[in-house]
Amino acid sequence: TYVVTDNCINCKYTDCVEVCPVDCFYEGENMLVIHPDECIDCGVCEPECPADAIRPDTEPDMENWVDFNRKYSEMWPVLVTKLDPMPDAEKHDGEKGKLEAYFS
Ligand code: SF4
Ligand code: F3S
Repeated sequence: TYVVTDNCINCKYTDCVEVCPVDCFYEGENMLVIHPDECIDCGVCEPECPADAIRPDTEPDMENWVDFNRKYSEMWPVLVTKLDPMPDAEKHDGEKGKLEAYFS
């Protein structure tokens, strides 16, 4: 599966949702997640994210992100249409410690 990681937080560019063939992105207040059981591993979303927040779970130490994506995808509504990015998305792109600072 692919998963959304912390650099999505407070950016939420949503370019990713437009290309997903199975509509498996779910929307929280300030980030999206991918449902790991619905993702078909096509990989087309990864290069679309301007924040480089989407990673394959084949990278090291991704277990926690898979669990995180699964947990919230079962709580949040699906998103299939691109939205405006969050205010100050560019300022927050690449910022460290976003999960601790902003995720709620
Ligand atoms: Fe959707 Fe493919 Fe990205 Fe999985 S890898 S979330 S199926 S676009
Ligand atoms: Fe987030 Fe990137 Fe999609 S910032 S909303 S994962 S395009």
